[in-house]
Amino acid sequence: MLTDTKSRLLDGLEHIEPDALLQLMVMARDDERQGKIDAGVGVFKTSEGKTPVMRAIKEAEKRLHEEQDSKAYLGMAGDKLFPKLLAPIVFGEELGDNMIGLQTPGGCGALTLAFKLVEAARPQARVFVGTPTWANHQPLIAGADLEIIEYPYYDKADTSLCWDAMVEALKSARSGDVALLHGCCHNPTGANLTVDQWHEVAAILVDRGVVPVIDIAYQGLGVGLEEDAAGLRIVMDACPEVIVAQSCDKNFGVYRDRVGALFVKASDAKTAALTMKHIQQIAREMWSMPPDHGAALVRIVLSDPELTAMWRAELDEMRGRIIDLRRRVAESDPRLAYIGEQEGMFSMLPVTPEQVVKLREEHAIYVANNGRFNVCGMGDDQVDSFTNAVRALMDG
Ligand SMILES: Cc1ncc(COP(=O)(O)O)c(C=O)c1O
Repeated sequence: MLTDTKSRLLDGLEHIEPDALLQLMVMARDDERQGKIDAGVGVFKTSEGKTPVMRAIKEAEKRLHEEQDSKAYLGMAGDKLFPKLLAPIVFGEELGDNMIGLQTPGGCGALTLAFKLVEAARPQARVFVGTPTWANHQPLIAGADLEIIEYPYYDKADTSLCWDAMVEALKSARSGDVALLHGCCHNPTGANLTVDQWHEVAAILVDRGVVPVIDIAYQGLGVGLEEDAAGLRIVMDACPEVIVAQSCDKNFGVYRDRVGALFVKASDAKTAALTMKHIQQIAREMWSMPPDHGAALVRIVLSDPELTAMWRAELDEMRGRIIDLRRRVAESDPRLAYIGEQEGMFSMLPVTPEQVVKLREEHAIYVANNGRFNVCGMGDDQVDSFTNAVRALMDG
């Protein structure tokens, strides 16, 4: 029998709402209407609505099955070759001796380590975050007990960047503060900085002594592998310290295998080595060691020129589908023209939450509450039904 002095532990839990996007996924899955469009979920889809295992990854899985002769622990940094092979893709060159890289459980794991590292080094650092941003960013920063300073990044009604507000916000940062930046394919807006704007941002970061944390989760799904890394590389060249949270989950299509990497550029090799020790200590407290399977597959693909070429070709196909859909949506109405200029898997519709419900209930079209939609969530033959429904809403 429980008495007043022996209350149950779990009675102390407060009510929380289930994740809105996960709820949307379930609703879309259970919707039995013909021609429904699930543009809520954030994964690449073929015209048939499939999220296939990439051909190069399938081949790598066969090789892994043949070659792997042990599943013994690899240590806190995971697969050591994986970040080394990834570096030329992300940075266009090998890791310098003032840089470290390690395997993490997806981009989320890399971001977790990034902000915990900031906390360990400078707990009073404030993190500048442009809004709207990916829904996980703020909880991950708050999880490291860091203060968040928001600034407007994108005006949904105007479908444009709030460039002046971004510049003003970053110029107000103090030395030692942190700026979270999307490397490419901004989620949820699809609106990215131009090369000139990246140069300007980099100059402000250097001038103010602000440390960039660059989240790059969609490289190759915007304009191209090289083009999508251009901004990140500008910042890498300019800033003495840079933290990069990378994810392979989208561009290698290995979502559930949780594949990512954290890279840090320090001012010198000694600091880089010390940073690595701290990061591994944090990783030990979080998950001890990252899961191996997906990173081993990426390592196999990137170790073999033939598999790498196969992967690149398939990534090109995926990006081609996204770009083609963007063009078709953009051409349907001048009010949607901005979608053709944006990049990556996501853009936002200038709609209210009530209109989002209308899209769902009257047209079986699922988009996130804030109007974010996954461009490749529609089949090739569904573009007209998507744009007709959106145009009807905009017409009132
Ligand atoms: C902007 C952004 N960053 C990071 C991630 C992390 O991805 P994952 O943890 O699945 O690798 C995502 C995933 O949706 C994302 O959209």
